[in-house]
Order: sequence, then structure tokens, then C-alpha cells
Amino acid sequence: MTPQAEILQGLLLPQASISPKYFYDAAGSALFEQITLLPEYYPTRVERQIMTTHASDIACRMGAGVTVIEPGAGNCEKARALCELIHPRLFVALDISEDFLHQAVAGLRAALPGVEVSAVVADLTRAITLPVDLPMAQRLVFYPGSSIGNFDPPQALALVTRLRGLLADDGALLIGVDLVKDMAVLHAAYDDAQGVTAAFNLNVLKHVNRVVGSDFDVTQWQHLAFFNPVASRIEMHLQASTATDVHWPGGGRSFAQGERIHTENSYKYQVADFVELLKRAGLSQTQVWTDPDNWFAVILAHP
Ligand SMILES: C[S@@+](CC[C@H](N)C(=O)[O-])C[C@H]1O[C@@H](n2cnc3c(N)ncnc32)[C@H](O)[C@@H]1O
Repeated sequence: MTPQAEILQGLLLPQASISPKYFYDAAGSALFEQITLLPEYYPTRVERQIMTTHASDIACRMGAGVTVIEPGAGNCEKARALCELIHPRLFVALDISEDFLHQAVAGLRAALPGVEVSAVVADLTRAITLPVDLPMAQRLVFYPGSSIGNFDPPQALALVTRLRGLLADDGALLIGVDLVKDMAVLHAAYDDAQGVTAAFNLNVLKHVNRVVGSDFDVTQWQHLAFFNPVASRIEMHLQASTATDVHWPGGGRSFAQGERIHTENSYKYQVADFVELLKRAGLSQTQVWTDPDNWFAVILAHP
């Protein structure tokens, strides 16, 4: 399905939705980078703290000269820290945000002259195609940031199973997973005081306007984020502040005041549940590191 068809299908559902992958045009990627620096956005900070605290343990579990593959690499900052720690031979960054990816990879090449760095523009919700000459042995798939939380549990299992499929038996997955915690902490992380997360959420409408030729007026929409304890997930929505009509070539939709477009889920796990998911995906040997508050987990999983 084309991005245009996928977006319109979501917009025409009774409960309209837009896949979170459409957050990431160049502006969205830059806004996400700003989010990671916010005081309220603990995942980046706590994950980095775990990786730093357990750096020597992580490094000694990796052989020298591995191939690191990072789906959803973003600004490649985490890859840079990991590569400085484990000195891989090759690093492959995959991301849907093409311009941002190429810019990030250029920065990484300059910073890590000893590592062969390549970039693959890819949508993780589809088949993942790696460079044909990439060695199969000693691969490490690095999937930080709890990006896995954007997929509902069956989709997460399917994606981790596909990531396992990129590995030989000597490979491993190093994954960051956000954990269930105090609701106030979660709410603040997805609705910060400076409004950067709101700008990130609203930016999806500008991206959609460009992709499908629609006329969303961003000023008519408000950012909404809350924890859904039944599903164990943060939900982000855009809510129409007035009744509004949106048009696109060949169609359109009316939204009532208060009607929402669901833009993101971010599932929060218990460690044991995620370890079970990894097992079901064929990654049964796991080493789990967490922070003292148990807010976040970094897990190294082997077949
Ligand atoms: C939450 S950010 C995480 C970035 C970085 N890995 C980190 O931990 O800070 C998600 C990243 O995944 C990318 N992304 C989102 N959906 C994607 C998809 N379906 N296929 C490929 N990349 C995707 C985004 O462009 C973005 O760089």
C-alpha cells in the first residue's frame, strides 16, 4: 500500500488514526531530537545512564568486529556511544526519515573513521532488506529508545521475530524497553511544559498535508496525551478544537468538535512480560539491566 493510501485509510476509519511513522519528516525528526533533551523525557536519559553504568559488562559480551544494525536510528547519537564502546567493524543505520538519516550518518562517519557506516532508508513495518554483502556472522541489532513500544504487543512480537530473522545463531539483539511507572511521570514525559511534544504531534498534520495533498489547519487541533492503564500504554491524539472539514484530492472528512485522531501508542512493559515476548520471538537467553528506580530496561537477548 502506498503512504497516501495508508494515510487516507486511517483518516477514514470511524476512529481516525495516523501511523506514528508519519511523525518523521525532517521537521518531526528534529522535534523528536529536541524531545530527547527535555527534563520530562526520562527515557533517553535513563537509558543512557543504564548503558553507561553497565558499559564494561555490555562491551565484554560483544566480540570484537561485530556488525551493528540499528532500526530507527534517528540522529545516531546512541549508535555513536555504542560504537565507541564496542568498536564494531560495520554499522548500518535504518530509518524512514530519509534526509535526517543521511545527515546523521554523515556526522557518524566523521566521528567514527574506523567504522564502515551505511544508511538504508526503510519502513520497519514492511520487509527489511539489508545490503546484500553484509556479513551474516556476529550481527548485533540495536533497537534503543523503546521504539518497540509504538507497536501493539502482537505487532511487537512480529517485529522482534523479524529482527531475530536478521541474526545468525551468534547474533544478538540489544533493546531498550520502557517500563510501567508512576502515571504523573508518564504524563509529563508525553506532555512537556515547553510544548515540544505538542509541536511534534501537530507536525504530523503538516507532513500528511504534503503526502496526501490535504488541507489540515494545524491551528484547529490540540495535542492530547494520557496513560491508558488497561492497555498499559500512553496514547497520543490530536483533538479538533472546533468542528472542521478537511479536504484532499478526491475526498475529505468532517470532524466534530472534540473528535480525535489517534497518532501514537507507547506501550509500557513489565520486564518479565517483555522477556517472555523475546522468548516467543526465538531470543531465549536474556541479560536485563535496569536503573535503580526500575523506569527502563536495556536487554541483551541471544537466540
Ligand atoms: C522514537 S525515535 C527513536 C530514535 C533513536 N533510535 C533513539 O532512540 O533516540 C524513532 C525513530 O524510528 C524511526 N521510525 C519510526 N517509524 C519507523 C518505521 N516504520 N520504519 C523505519 N523507521 C521508523 C523514526 O524516523 C525515528 O528516527
